[in-house]
Amino acid sequence: MHSIFDQFMITGQVVIITGGAGLIGRRHMEAVLEGGGIPVLLDIFEEPLQKAKEEYMAKYPDAVIETYVADITAEESLCEIRDALLAKYGHIDGLINNAANNPKMEGGSKNMGAIQFHNFPLDIWQEDLMVGLTGSFLCAKIFGTVMEKQGKGAIINISSDYGVISPNQSIYRKEGIPEEEQIIKPVSYSVVKHGLMGLTKYLATYWGKKGVRVNTLCPASLFNGQDEEFVKRISELIPMGRMSRPDEYPATVLYMLSDASSYMTGATVILDGGRTIW
Ligand SMILES: NC(=O)c1ccc[n+]([C@@H]2O[C@H](COP(=O)([O-])OP(=O)(O)OC[C@H]3O[C@@H](n4cnc5c(N)ncnc54)[C@H](O)[C@@H]3O)[C@@H](O)[C@H]2O)c1
Repeated sequence: MHSIFDQFMITGQVVIITGGAGLIGRRHMEAVLEGGGIPVLLDIFEEPLQKAKEEYMAKYPDAVIETYVADITAEESLCEIRDALLAKYGHIDGLINNAANNPKMEGGSKNMGAIQFHNFPLDIWQEDLMVGLTGSFLCAKIFGTVMEKQGKGAIINISSDYGVISPNQSIYRKEGIPEEEQIIKPVSYSVVKHGLMGLTKYLATYWGKKGVRVNTLCPASLFNGQDEEFVKRISELIPMGRMSRPDEYPATVLYMLSDASSYMTGATVILDGGRTIW
């Protein structure tokens, strides 16, 4: 008889992680490695991909980590990656749709800054939807179809607490700055994160009897060196009274990828310290 912990193992399974070189993407890789799987990181820049790989090869010296420089909005290159993985391993078992134009409150991202709704540029809207929604659609189509043929697979769409609630823009405000120059979370972020839930539900029913499970994970409020005032404001909106740590996600990701969650599909798993219930 298998133990409950055995159900969490994904030994030898090939799991694609889009935006795999980013802050949370690396933690998804950790989840896959802990389960004995083979993470396949897709990202647009070579250097952060190689750094992520080196960092985790040092921690997991016997692991296999695949990396591909790829833009998930380019269907052709996704097809090439699919073919290369099938030639090498013969199967693709998981997909984490994690890449996004992720606006940082520090203001370093081009889609977050002194852009109000009334002057939000069409090109940024289109770029954000292209990566967050179109990229996820393409990955689900290309890699999920392999899983359908295999009769087994797990897809996780990474949404956000902002896939459930609207941003409370007051937490981003800076005193003494005119309204037009205040930083706000972009409308495209809300639309992408809500949209991914639609993709999850559509595919969970479409592939319901085909062995491909599709679920949404909503991370929230990751602490990443934000300033003290911001941390205080956001923490007041969270029943647990604090932001999340990156190490608080991998266990849930492994659960969602593995047979431990074999009867879960179309679900939304929210890790937000309770923020969305307030
Ligand atoms: N950090 C948070 O507080 C937080 C909270 C809730 C949800 N999320 C979600 O988690 C996911 C990961 O967030 P993160 O904080 O790690 O962001 P991040 O910016 O560190 O990582 C995103 C990665 O996606 C890559 N990427 C962007 N466009 C791409 C493309 N076209 N093709 C391939 N890769 C591309 C980037 O290069 C980057 O490495 C995002 O979907 C984000 O919306 C993050």
